[in-house]
Amino acid sequence: MSGNQDETILIIDDEKNIRNALRLVLEGENYRVIDADCAERGLEILASQRISLVLLDLKMPGMGGMEALKIISEHNGTVRQMPSVVVISGQATTTQAMETVRYGAFDFLEKPLDRSRILVTVQNALDHRTLLTERDSLAAKLAEQYEMIGKSTVMLDLFRQIEKIAPTHGRVLITGESGTGKELVARAIHKTSSLSGKPFIKVNCAAIPPELIESELFGHEKGSFTGAINKKSGLFEQANHGTIFLDEIGDMSQNAQAKVLRVLQSGEFVRVGGEKSIVVEVRVIAATNRDLEAMVREGTFREDLYFRLSVLPLVIPPLRDRSEDIPCLVQGFVKGFCETYGFREKSIDPKVLEILSQHKWPGNIRELKNQVERMVILSSDHIGVKDLPTNYMETHLPEFELKAFSHLSLKQFRNEMEKEFILMKLKQYDWNITKAAESLQVERTNLHKKVKSYNLSRDTE
Ligand SMILES: Nc1ncnc2c1ncn2[C@@H]1O[C@H](COP(=O)(O)OP(=O)(O)OP(=O)(O)O)[C@@H](O)[C@H]1O
Ligand SMILES: [Mg+2]
Repeated sequence: MSGNQDETILIIDDEKNIRNALRLVLEGENYRVIDADCAERGLEILASQRISLVLLDLKMPGMGGMEALKIISEHNGTVRQMPSVVVISGQATTTQAMETVRYGAFDFLEKPLDRSRILVTVQNALDHRTLLTERDSLAAKLAEQYEMIGKSTVMLDLFRQIEKIAPTHGRVLITGESGTGKELVARAIHKTSSLSGKPFIKVNCAAIPPELIESELFGHEKGSFTGAINKKSGLFEQANHGTIFLDEIGDMSQNAQAKVLRVLQSGEFVRVGGEKSIVVEVRVIAATNRDLEAMVREGTFREDLYFRLSVLPLVIPPLRDRSEDIPCLVQGFVKGFCETYGFREKSIDPKVLEILSQHKWPGNIRELKNQVERMVILSSDHIGVKDLPTNYMETHLPEFELKAFSHLSLKQFRNEMEKEFILMKLKQYDWNITKAAESLQVERTNLHKKVKSYNLSRDTE
């Protein structure tokens, strides 16, 4: 049990008996324990030492536990990671104790305190904190090395996949809607691989006219066609020993697809107008926002090329499916743009983060980033709700006066609210009944019935 020595637990309680009892139990398991007899003293200790867990009494003379918890949560992540907080409550304060969980407390212990319950709760709280610490350091690494911001489970999974995929030099196919970060991911893979010191050549397959793509990719010999005044090496040659990033691969002509397939099969090609075959060693990463599988079915994308490209498929989810990333993305972009424009770092109203988090972002991260840039430029030192474009407010719940419903019976009121709530959810999920039902935690058939009985449709106000 000597491992427990690394974890320091702070007990904040005005009752000496409780402090002593807790100390006895925890020191018995080799935890390091510090105590404080009031919240003010406890906060001082927190500011000066690394504490993993706080056992916090709710009812104390002077500053109460709730207020102390709010202060602890506010400093979360600014100086160092927030300690886990377990609240201690008497029977009279149980409801309040449950409330503290909303403010970031991990759990609560009720008096009279029970030894095994204390130890289990403490261990759970410490384990949970370790998990959060790991997640934070992964997210920090992500931001520092790849300028990728994200803390959601999907983003961290994606990052773990990048780290696994990168060293293999295997071909990667990145798919995702426009603006989700495909290029950023491709660069991250290159940077993490052993090819990082070698070239990373990006080819925008959609931007090159079909008649020029062959010469762009493979180069040409002097005089091989009108306009080929000099010999030119192609992008595959320039990328030799490094990475070639075939962006928008779904927009490549059939003819070009055949040529690319040949290089992938043999590692060789011939310059336009040339005879000598050139051998290259390049890692290929391709990306597209098109549904390549569907294109294969329709016959517009070669199946053999698709299989060659998608050895390691990576799917980047749209931003609306990971809205918990939005606050940290906004904060990161605000910081970045303030630096770019030479402003002092602007603060952001939490309400703004909330509203932005509810928006659907069809243009994904690119759209969000552009929006934040605009707000940074146009706002004062503080970015407030007034700086938001009005259309972002749509999905936001309207404020209402309860009194306006005073003429209704309870049943009518309940129905009215239920109808509005269901309508909001349906809009949020773009009328996808399955998703809305899941979010409302009701059966799909049940939701269908309600939609029908309330006569809801896309035209409903
Ligand atoms: N996780 C992220 N953290 C921070 N910035 C991001 C993140 N993902 C994307 N971005 C930024 O969003 C913008 C769009 O990203 P990127 O160009 O990689 O998207 P894309 O999927 O290639 O889009 P398109 O399909 O339109 O080419 C870029 O400015 C990029 O830096
Ligand atoms: Mg792109």
